[in-house]
Amino acid sequence: MNQSEVLCRCLNVTHHEVHQAIDVLAAQSVQDVAKLTDAGTGCMCCRRCIKDIIRQKQMQASVAEYA
Ligand code: FES
Repeated sequence: MNQSEVLCRCLNVTHHEVHQAIDVLAAQSVQDVAKLTDAGTGCMCCRRCIKDIIRQKQMQASVAEYA
């Protein structure tokens, strides 16, 4: 995945910006990401993708915790 690729077309928010909101600004929900980046505040089509990214990062963190 190219991080400069747009994830939210309505608000022109990139994958990188969403990942930064989660990794750096500690967003833990779609609502958190929306507040920080505006992603998902238009047609809401991208909310599923944002949710999947958050879930994937949380699973990776859990695996790392028990490794
Ligand atoms: S694509 Fe993100 S709100 Fe429409």
